[in-house]
Amino acid sequence: MITGKVSVVGTGPGSPPYLTARAEQALKESDLVIGYRLYVNQVAALIEGKEAVSSAMGKEVERCRLAVAEAVQGKKVALVSGGDPGIYGMAGLLLQVAGESVPVPEVEVIPGVTAAGAAAALLGAPLMHDFAVISLSDLLTPWEVIEKRLHAAASADFVIVLYNPRSRGRTNLLAGARAIILEYQKEETAVGMVRGVGRDEEKKWATTLEDMADCMEEADMSTLVIIGNSHTYWEKGRMITPRGYEL
Ligand SMILES: C[S@@+](CC[C@H](N)C(=O)[O-])C[C@H]1O[C@@H](n2cnc3c(N)ncnc32)[C@H](O)[C@@H]1O
Repeated sequence: MITGKVSVVGTGPGSPPYLTARAEQALKESDLVIGYRLYVNQVAALIEGKEAVSSAMGKEVERCRLAVAEAVQGKKVALVSGGDPGIYGMAGLLLQVAGESVPVPEVEVIPGVTAAGAAAALLGAPLMHDFAVISLSDLLTPWEVIEKRLHAAASADFVIVLYNPRSRGRTNLLAGARAIILEYQKEETAVGMVRGVGRDEEKKWATTLEDMADCMEEADMSTLVIIGNSHTYWEKGRMITPRGYEL
């Protein structure tokens, strides 16, 4: 039996301009908004007067269980998830939790602008050719697995997008990734780093594999790093990976 509905809503990387019209509509139609505090705060203006439950990082399973329980009771629930909910977000966990529920609520996954797309746009056009996306967070994935994927992506000359360059309590993840990539790519390989894209604190760095050692310390939990392939270059402050067109 299908009962209520829970929408997992991608809120984009930061401020309301990055929120899609569909995401805005789902938030406005909801009876209850649930999410990590930062993301609930980001959509505060759109959900004024609505019931909202925000919680701390690490409470992901609890948030999904609450969303499913409330949906089963007949509420329209919006579970907010930063960026795109299907990219290191809440969509997978919600579907797992909903799948175990009796009865099963209806679930809709509403995509959002992922940090990689927003950061790439700010840097220029670094993702014009094949790219690999790797999260450096070793909270849920063993570091050995992450290392294996870094070796594979760097040896295949992919542009590499690094999410979660800094884990809680682990500040050396990015340095470890850089060392592996330097086994395959030249020191002058173009690198772009973006912190807080779409937010007031937005900041970007145009650098190289060699020089990124100078700015790596600035990477935090809201930073994304894009490491170019062997053809990527900086042109007047813009990071470009050529697709192969003749000029
Ligand atoms: C758990 S992942 C969530 C990703 C999110 N679902 C998405 O699609 O962008 C968190 C990581 O995304 C990246 N991120 C999220 N928002 C960002 C922003 N506004 N600017 C730069 N990076 C961001 C950071 O690497 C951060 O550590």
